[in-house]
Amino acid sequence: MTHRVLLGVSAGISAYKTPSLVRLLRAQGVSVRVVMTKAAAQFVTPLSLQAVSNEPVLSDLWTADDPNGMDHIALARWADHILIAPATADLMARLACGMANDLLTTLCLASSAPLLLAPAMNKHMWANKAVQANYQLLESRGVRFIGPESGEQACGDVGLGRMSEPEAIVELLLAKMGLPKALGALQGQRVLITAGPTQEPLDPIRFLSNRSTGTMGYALAACARDAGAEVTLISGPVALAPLSGLNMVLVTTAESMHDAVFQHIDNQDIVVCAAAVADYTLPEVLSEKIKKKEGALTLSLERTKDIVQAIMAMPNPPFCVGFSAETHDVIVQSEKKRKRKGLPVLIANQVGENCGFGDGDVRVSVLSDAGVEPLEAASKKALAPLLWEKVLAKS
Ligand code: C5P
Repeated sequence: MTHRVLLGVSAGISAYKTPSLVRLLRAQGVSVRVVMTKAAAQFVTPLSLQAVSNEPVLSDLWTADDPNGMDHIALARWADHILIAPATADLMARLACGMANDLLTTLCLASSAPLLLAPAMNKHMWANKAVQANYQLLESRGVRFIGPESGEQACGDVGLGRMSEPEAIVELLLAKMGLPKALGALQGQRVLITAGPTQEPLDPIRFLSNRSTGTMGYALAACARDAGAEVTLISGPVALAPLSGLNMVLVTTAESMHDAVFQHIDNQDIVVCAAAVADYTLPEVLSEKIKKKEGALTLSLERTKDIVQAIMAMPNPPFCVGFSAETHDVIVQSEKKRKRKGLPVLIANQVGENCGFGDGDVRVSVLSDAGVEPLEAASKKALAPLLWEKVLAKS
């Protein structure tokens, strides 16, 4: 299940930290929509938050139904958690009074999602009796708080009032959602991922391929990138938009994928082979279009090189994770495959006519020497951080 966080941003100087808050949440597979107070736009631009959340940023109650047809009630229903960071004294006062005089406060009233506030203000403001009374009142109604922290403030004062750091806010929120901790171990790691299908040409017009869409490999790559890894993504032909902020290498055939992997494998820490590499190819591509004739057509195909096996045959292979798509006896077949290929971890995935490819929930199991660990069905985007967590625990 994908978790959905509505991030409310009010007008504190620490609003400049909210783009990294959004990125950290998204790296965990959490969907984030941002709602700002009008004044918050003085501290961070809606465009920055739109770019990192990949969603329109809203602030006006009266135009909230324009983008994506989401009015404020629909957005209130959408959220399974509301986080307000930074939460100013003014915003706390308006929440305490039950006001609904802008989009953010209206959403808070209209939603039954748990509310987490990260206050940020000058230390005298925080100590003010009115603010403290609002804090007590909100807490008594079940609103959770993180911070404020003590330290140097933007205004030059030193004291209680700094917004908690994005990492700490995300960690608390993830714990509340039952999600794994931030994927800190990926920071600075070199990660190579293969994704998508390969295409094996038969003649200048036709090729052999499969139904892989690259969704899982791209989700793993984006997640590792957002968690601070240096990512190389070697992708077969897919309809997905190329990812930014990582080294994208586009290939077509199994042979070109093999060559690209070995061009980039030096000094990699972790390799994830999520690509559905063709097992067979035509030894020589016909230079002219194959003409139809009476009777059957026989083509003689030869085996492609197994990239995973070649990696595991290296003297000091990087930690390598394979994927296994099977239609029948998924676990038995996949465990045999894991042993045959010498892989420490293999992610087994049930595929069929209507499952396993593209978007939609998938049910996977993590196979390793520790046994079989089935994971709950989830979208590939939501699975990516969970899979990284499992891989990091075993690497
Ligand atoms: O043998 P099978 O194709 O089912 O194994 C799947 C795993 O092996 C995947 O991780 C896939 O990326 C990898 N593979 C490979 N090179 C091949 C075939 C599969 O790396 N030629």
